[in-house]
Amino acid sequence: MALPDLASQLEAQLGEAVSLNTSVSDLTTYRLGGPVAVVVRVFSENDLVTVGQIISSAQDEIPLIVIGRGSNLLVADSGFMGVGIILDGDFTEVKIEPGLRLTAGGAVPLPVVARQSAAAGLTGLEFLVGIPGSIGGAVRMNAGGHGREIREVLDRARIVDIQSGKTRICRADDLDFSYRSSNVKHHEVVVQAELRASLDDPDACRKRIDDIVRWRRENQPGGANAGSTFKNPSGDSAGRLIDSAGLKGLRVGGVVVSEKHANFLQAEEGATARDVYELMKLVQRKVKESCGIDLESELHTVGFDENL
Ligand code: EPU
Repeated sequence: MALPDLASQLEAQLGEAVSLNTSVSDLTTYRLGGPVAVVVRVFSENDLVTVGQIISSAQDEIPLIVIGRGSNLLVADSGFMGVGIILDGDFTEVKIEPGLRLTAGGAVPLPVVARQSAAAGLTGLEFLVGIPGSIGGAVRMNAGGHGREIREVLDRARIVDIQSGKTRICRADDLDFSYRSSNVKHHEVVVQAELRASLDDPDACRKRIDDIVRWRRENQPGGANAGSTFKNPSGDSAGRLIDSAGLKGLRVGGVVVSEKHANFLQAEEGATARDVYELMKLVQRKVKESCGIDLESELHTVGFDENL
């Protein structure tokens, strides 16, 4: 089954939840990049299994991305000839239960988790306020900041394999977490996570959140970017290395290495995904020349000849 037939089947089953040739610029924090051939908004696990069955029945392998909040995604200007999944509905719920456990759907933004837990007088999740992604994306890549990572607070994750339709419920130890990485596959969707916290005074929690927000404003740029572009090499900081190589202000087209934090590549008006990609390659080459270190992309790049 080719992509247009697949799109028709998805539309027949899921109606308006399916949209064709949607510009990814509306779906990512970079606000650039080409169209995604088929975008499906899934509202429940049943929807997700239906999408999986249709995709798996296609003869050709259909490329798949889970778009999440698009805070770590760079899609080529020529677009993505596959299916992009966005979680919605059931996956946007947060439940706080007695027993100091917070359950959040895969689509819930991390800052929402941080603020809701703080308001309920739970501490331990404040660091999530500084990370722009969703719970599902955070589990997949073991997102972190302010000295903490999601693996430290994750109790259990519920993960649906789109290819097989099977669900696995994992403890943090089952996910082979390491720095910005886990064993969650590209055809798996993290639909829910249970996080641990402990009791504290809501005002104290709120103050910690305010401190993190203030720190970010002082140290990281706003505007169109995807946060840290490169992973930190062991024992060092990608931002420090790019800065030491004298690359702040380096530009390709409409994209520039931020003066505020060198690991952020800022997109200006008229920037293209190709500009971001070429600037990433240039920064990698210059840092290698300057200190011999290979910087590895933290962004998920889609539709380019080579993954960075
Ligand atoms: N530095 C420079 N020049 C720069 C930027 C940073 O010299 O242009 C130096 C800083 O002075 C500091 C060191 O590099 O000594 C580390 O910088 P920072 O404290 O800003 O932290 P980071 O390692 O660059 C990490 C995460 C961020 C997270 C912050 C805050 C990675 C790749 N990045 O940044 O995560 O917000 O810590 O905890 O792990 C993200 O993943 O998208 C992200 C923004």
